[in-house]
Amino acid sequence: MKLGKNEPCWCGSGEKYKRCHLDFDEKLEELHLQGIPVPPHSMIKNKKQIDGIRESGVINTALLDEVAKSIHEGITTEEIDDLVYDFTMSHGAVPATLGYEGFPKSCCTSVNNEICHGIPSDKVVLREGDIVNVDVTTIYRGYFADASRMFCIGQLSPDAEKIVRVARECLEAGIAAVRPWGRLGDIGAAIQAVAQREGCSIVRDIGGHGVGLEMHEDPYVCHVGHAGTGMVLAPGMVFTVEPMVNLGTDKFFIDKGNGWTVYTKDGKLSAQWEHTLAVTETGIEILTY
Ligand code: MF3
Ligand code: CO
Ligand code: CO
Repeated sequence: MKLGKNEPCWCGSGEKYKRCHLDFDEKLEELHLQGIPVPPHSMIKNKKQIDGIRESGVINTALLDEVAKSIHEGITTEEIDDLVYDFTMSHGAVPATLGYEGFPKSCCTSVNNEICHGIPSDKVVLREGDIVNVDVTTIYRGYFADASRMFCIGQLSPDAEKIVRVARECLEAGIAAVRPWGRLGDIGAAIQAVAQREGCSIVRDIGGHGVGLEMHEDPYVCHVGHAGTGMVLAPGMVFTVEPMVNLGTDKFFIDKGNGWTVYTKDGKLSAQWEHTLAVTETGIEILTY
């Protein structure tokens, strides 16, 4: 089973094993022997793959910038979806959500008390004071990049202002907690601490995910947790951080009519920001900036 030092590395780099992931594997083995959960090789991306995800991320980011320019009071979420579709296709890419497990649109648009997976519709008109998450995943040359932002329509209530800010701070804290050879639980712990300080709650059962060769890969990235627990974060892992932050309860329900849209149980506001990032030897790289 063991790869010879001079054989090509399992990661697909084409390098000799000894010049590529041999030291990496020894480190993982050492941690594994201490009883620490470590990522399988299937979660580790090589340089070529990360380069591909970065390229997809460039289009995904430009797309969100385009949404930022076009969004205004009176626009329907269907019109946002049209923009997402047209922009993506005209860049030689494909919107990953379109047809994904039956999802009918090119992005998710989640307004106010909608937590995530809102379906764009010509019936949903954005009005002054609304907050909306637009979540886009781009496939370019087979590589997936996933990110979302909040957009604010006109003057917001203090509550709306707050939840958008806190959700952003939660994303930033979560990302800042990612370190090569750190742990998955560090991310959730950092996010939870910000939410707790602000009196907001974090959705538990929907979270981030590995991404890059598919839309949703392992591992599941929980936005609550304990520092120093969970899987080791090794260089080459690519995943999203995308905390869903609620002003009231973290409890939610799913729309029975469409099977997708997730709402807060108490009808209070929810906000979310998302990035795709890679763990590197020395730190992290955000692939959707
Ligand atoms: N982009 C979403 C995420 O962050 C996934 C949307 S799946 C869909 O994971 F089917 F709801 F579009
Ligand atoms: Co997303
Ligand atoms: Co995601």
